[in-house]
Amino acid sequence: MALLKEPDLGTPARHGPSVDLEVDGHQVSVPAGTSVLRAAALAGIDIPKLCASDNLEAFGSCRLCLVEVEGGKGTPASCTTPVAPGMQVRTQSPKLEKLRRGVMELYISDHPLDCLTCPANGDCELQDMAGVVGLREVRYGFDGENHLDAPTDTSNPYFDFDDSKCIVCSRCVRACDEVQGTFALTISGRGFDSRVSASAGESFMNSECVSCGACVQACPTSTLQERSVIDLGMPTRTVLTTCAYCGVGCSFKAELRGDEVVRMVPYKDGGANEGHSCVKGRFAFGYASHPDRVTKPMIRERISDPWREVAWDEAINYVATRMTDIRDRHGVGAIGGITSSRCTNEEVYVVQKLVRAAFGNNNVDTCARVCHSPTGYGLKQTFGTSAGTQDFKSVAKADVMVVIGANPTDGHPVFASRMKRRLREGAQLIVIDPRRIDMVRSPHIEAAHHLQLAPGSNVAIINAMSHVVVTEGLVDRVFVAERCEDFEAWEQFIARPENSPESLEEVTGVPAAEVRAAARLYGSAGNAAIYYGLGVTEHSQGSTMVMGMANLAMATGNIGREGVGVNPLRGQNNVQGSCDMGSFPHELPGYRHVSDDTVREVFETLWGRTILAEPGLRIPNMFDAALDGTFLGLYIQGEDLAQSDPNTKHVTAALSAMELVVVQDLFLNETAKFAHVFLPGTSFLEKDGTFTNAERRINRVRPVMAPKTGKHEWQIACDIAQAMGYPMSYQQSSEIMDEVALTTPTFAGVSFDLLDKVGSVQWPCHEEAPTGTTVMHSKGFTRGKGRFIETAYVPTAERSTRKYPLILTTGRILSQYNVGSQTRRTANIAWHAEDILEIHPHDAEVRGICDGDEVTMASRVGETRLRAQVNDRMPVGVVYTTFHYPVTGANVVTTEHSDWATNCPEYKVTAVQIELGRKPSVTETVARHRGGADPDQPRSHESHDRPAALLGD
Ligand code: SF4
Ligand code: SF4
Ligand code: SF4
Ligand code: FES
Repeated sequence: MALLKEPDLGTPARHGPSVDLEVDGHQVSVPAGTSVLRAAALAGIDIPKLCASDNLEAFGSCRLCLVEVEGGKGTPASCTTPVAPGMQVRTQSPKLEKLRRGVMELYISDHPLDCLTCPANGDCELQDMAGVVGLREVRYGFDGENHLDAPTDTSNPYFDFDDSKCIVCSRCVRACDEVQGTFALTISGRGFDSRVSASAGESFMNSECVSCGACVQACPTSTLQERSVIDLGMPTRTVLTTCAYCGVGCSFKAELRGDEVVRMVPYKDGGANEGHSCVKGRFAFGYASHPDRVTKPMIRERISDPWREVAWDEAINYVATRMTDIRDRHGVGAIGGITSSRCTNEEVYVVQKLVRAAFGNNNVDTCARVCHSPTGYGLKQTFGTSAGTQDFKSVAKADVMVVIGANPTDGHPVFASRMKRRLREGAQLIVIDPRRIDMVRSPHIEAAHHLQLAPGSNVAIINAMSHVVVTEGLVDRVFVAERCEDFEAWEQFIARPENSPESLEEVTGVPAAEVRAAARLYGSAGNAAIYYGLGVTEHSQGSTMVMGMANLAMATGNIGREGVGVNPLRGQNNVQGSCDMGSFPHELPGYRHVSDDTVREVFETLWGRTILAEPGLRIPNMFDAALDGTFLGLYIQGEDLAQSDPNTKHVTAALSAMELVVVQDLFLNETAKFAHVFLPGTSFLEKDGTFTNAERRINRVRPVMAPKTGKHEWQIACDIAQAMGYPMSYQQSSEIMDEVALTTPTFAGVSFDLLDKVGSVQWPCHEEAPTGTTVMHSKGFTRGKGRFIETAYVPTAERSTRKYPLILTTGRILSQYNVGSQTRRTANIAWHAEDILEIHPHDAEVRGICDGDEVTMASRVGETRLRAQVNDRMPVGVVYTTFHYPVTGANVVTTEHSDWATNCPEYKVTAVQIELGRKPSVTETVARHRGGADPDQPRSHESHDRPAALLGD
């Protein structure tokens, strides 16, 4: 279990051969390259330190960690002195004590003496060290030149920078450089005038800072301090849990004072994040106690009626009665459910069980339908398993990484920091994306190739790269012969002239020479790894592209060891898990087809109900059937269909056509406007279960407080099943995971006990892999042989026309998450208060559009208005927007096109026209320039400018 104060061994671990030395007479054996400071700490001897920390390279500035080395000169800093065989180190002597006291005297003479009222009281390393070195007096007095009047920077909504307390140890600077990779901080000035500065003397808010909080965590004093700690006081207890935002799945210590969460501290031993985080996970947790949260069930007969709060029993019985009635009147297929990737594995499992066992059909789908369903299909066809091949750590062994249709610094920031670290070490990067994402060029990083392809031409690019690999002798023939099948047919297909970079240049818009160079770089790398996102999957050829990437990786032997692989960067926290748990209408848990009699029998025996052998309805089929009058009852677990699904008009018409829409969520979201029953859900701080991240890592989500609604979400599904006459109950959520383990071979070894013992495991986890599997397909592919599949490029039906001459593609931004229902209810809106349309200067100029203008964006299915940002991140002819704000409703314009295999919507290609809306008024322009809100569109900045946790709710 995590401690409030975790031990810090002073400098990072090394992995060289063993070296023996003696510290204070104790024999110690450590890897070569280890610092004396760390070696001593490993022997249980704490040397005083201030500027060192075990997640940062040693800097040697505070001179507190001095030691004596037998036969050596002077008193070297132990943090920067590596161990040597036979070394004899003394960490304590009168001379060392005197020197250390002298150092501390200097620090304290220029430090406010307000320890008792300081927010860091009890959690300040300066205070601790003053005690450790036995400081009793400060001979220099406090009247000399000092920094005690230095101003405090309060610009960041989540943390303050109180310069008067800074000891210039540079831990923050190194954390920003080494851990986060943003390089936003610097030490300016020299000697006494040395000060920490954000960018070129900017405020934190105006600097390049992305508010990840790594500097706050690194600061040994109260200089960089969470605002929540200043307001609420130091935490007194901690609960280890998992972030509920993106698919990185960072582990956090939720630190509480009483029952109030004071701060979230990324957990050092977290397998996915190793002590790092982004602004969302670390700071944006206030939505969990936001006043907008609904905590009581509500019912209404018609969607035009007002909501009526009811007791749980009434709500449950209402849902059960109405669902049963619809089923009786319209047949077993007239009702269904949708699971959510934000919910735990356990919550998702019970909903698919509710649908299959109590509703009696396979009409269950998941929000992964609209994001990574092509990943499931494509990787299953080629490799045999619907999951990424690597763990995140693996990227440290990659020589070349390819990022396709993903924007890791915004979408998967903590993994992006790992990638950037490896790139700074010398790995090469290929970015394949219409947009110039930050990773193309950022401090100390530059992509070797940016293939700025036309939206919709992914398959053409990947085929062209494979063509080069095949025709230029870059195929790993041994790997292919031993491990794969159907290669010859694929080789002939891909070698055809129409798949050459030259032939496809017109389609992709990427110069053939650039594609050839990128393919050669990938094909000749020692280890080459592919990471991809929704820019791959959300296309009419999403599944084809996933298979195309798998082909390329197999052809070059880049599968089955560290540093290689094909890896989806999953959007939501539990996309992987919700798919694993049998949320698809054609698959039972563990991706086993419902038509498989043996698999069905396992569940039928345990559940005591017959499971239909025919797949049920997918989300788009549910909508179509609703409009046909044959699908009339829907239970929606935590997905905002009306905002997140394409072609909003169609979605809302379908929802309006249903007799019973049940929404289970934290807030009254857009979909709730069409609901007859609202069942309040629990936030991640109340949940008890597991999430599975993009690396197949199953992490525990531990409750830090009781459900504010009085019920766990898995209990709601059980209660509905019971009320419909199907007995389903569990005493606790661990029993649900036990049932998953019992029925699903890839989860056979997973239990809450195991997770409590080892921290986390990556499935498959069973008898042969009792603590999980980091790298998949290392000996053979899950399906036996890796299968090459021909991936002919078929252009999307969505084309630019005279009426709609631009192509719209969509993405995310760091501070917001998905449809924004959580992050919009935190101070994160300080960074991104509205969706913005990015447009190339040329396209803007011909339309008379200037930066900041409000524009109308229309496609053939709908139109919306938003503000333009003129920049050249997009090529001419392509525009880009995010989809975090319902007021924009970006999906009003997205079309009905979808992936041929999975129906995943084609969010990334929509033909649009952009026209100047109205010019902003002078007042608006002034307000915007001051960073204020548009007065015509009040956005409740006022109530959100602090984390909601601090608002006293
Ligand atoms: S802000 Fe904190 S971490 Fe940074 S130099 Fe000052 S005391 Fe050190
Ligand atoms: S919050 Fe993160 S990005 Fe900002 S200065 Fe600190 S370490 Fe750098
Ligand atoms: S949002 Fe993602 S990267 Fe950020 S802390 Fe949460 S899991 Fe980690
Ligand atoms: S801890 Fe070694 S010099 Fe500061």
